[in-house]
Amino acid sequence: MKTSKAVRLSWFGGADALQIDPVAIPQPQDDEVLVRVVAASVNPVDYKIREGQFPPIREDMLPIILGRDLAGTIEAAGTSAHYMVVKGDPVFAHIGFDRGAQSEFVVVKAIELVAAPRSIDLVHAAAVPLAAMTAWQGLFDQGELQPGQTVLIHGGAGGVGHLAIQFAKAKGATVLTTVGTDDVDFVRAIGADTVIDYKTERFEDVAKDVDLVFDLVGGETQDRSFAVLRQGGTLVSTVGVADPDKGKARDIRVPERWMATPNAAQLGEIADLIDAGRVKVEVAETFPLDQVREAYARLEQGHVRGKIVLTFA
Ligand SMILES: NC(=O)c1ccc[n+]([C@@H]2O[C@H](COP(=O)([O-])OP(=O)(O)OC[C@H]3O[C@@H](n4cnc5c(N)ncnc54)[C@H](OP(=O)(O)O)[C@@H]3O)[C@@H](O)[C@H]2O)c1
Repeated sequence: MKTSKAVRLSWFGGADALQIDPVAIPQPQDDEVLVRVVAASVNPVDYKIREGQFPPIREDMLPIILGRDLAGTIEAAGTSAHYMVVKGDPVFAHIGFDRGAQSEFVVVKAIELVAAPRSIDLVHAAAVPLAAMTAWQGLFDQGELQPGQTVLIHGGAGGVGHLAIQFAKAKGATVLTTVGTDDVDFVRAIGADTVIDYKTERFEDVAKDVDLVFDLVGGETQDRSFAVLRQGGTLVSTVGVADPDKGKARDIRVPERWMATPNAAQLGEIADLIDAGRVKVEVAETFPLDQVREAYARLEQGHVRGKIVLTFA
């Protein structure tokens, strides 16, 4: 049996629960392809799963391979997928929870992957899929953001936030965003119209009557956000669900709990925006696979601008 290395979780816990284990190289079936992974990003959901703080992944499902998104090259294809791809093609993907991406070889369904953007390397491409699906689906599917509308994005310098700012601008919206002091210039440079330093300002003093709040922070930031929405506005969060009763009197829409799902058509549109130079991908730091514990620790410490990416030799 041919084996490869993967980041495997066999028990919930701290850094020591992140094990680099030998695993069987999976075989692609029918509409699947086998990807030789060049890079896979680390997302907050990975350490929430590691800690046992992500309810869809229960202890009786372990061991699992961690990781939600990747970039790499086609290694092999199933019978009905081989007409779509050629060995060596560069691709990127957000994959379902039944597999993990932090592995040297990953089986990806044809409906999950698209050609990687040509204008960036595969390390930057790996930073995109989950964060981009979250930003896109949060703004446009859940939030129904329209050209000419105004959106307030909380946490604009993080993995999801820095892409959300650029997608909303590409759609023709006006963007306000909250970030820490060190990130003010960064989010201005990627297109935010109004930047609010959450460490020194209250966003309620600046943002008024916005059409949509896209909340990537939660807690009291989420609670306080009702006050800045116009009558009939929308509050979309990626961190828990806001209490809809708080917005009832002003007819504020609060979509139910949702999770970003793989969507190759949307990922393809995003690849085109990147290649058109309209979206820049920020990678804060990369770590080789054998430093996976350091990579997770870096993300958990906070203050990451953009994304953390694991690289595979
Ligand atoms: N439901 C889903 O499908 C889904 C998908 C993806 C992500 N998520 C969740 O969404 C959240 C964001 O994800 P991410 O990948 O963007 O995380 P991230 O890269 O860690 O970014 C979070 C950002 O929020 C900033 N921040 C912290 N406190 C803030 C405050 N009070 N006001 C404004 N900004 C603040 C952080 O900056 P500083 O630390 O410098 O302050 C950081 O830039 C995570 O909780 C993640 O689990 C959910």
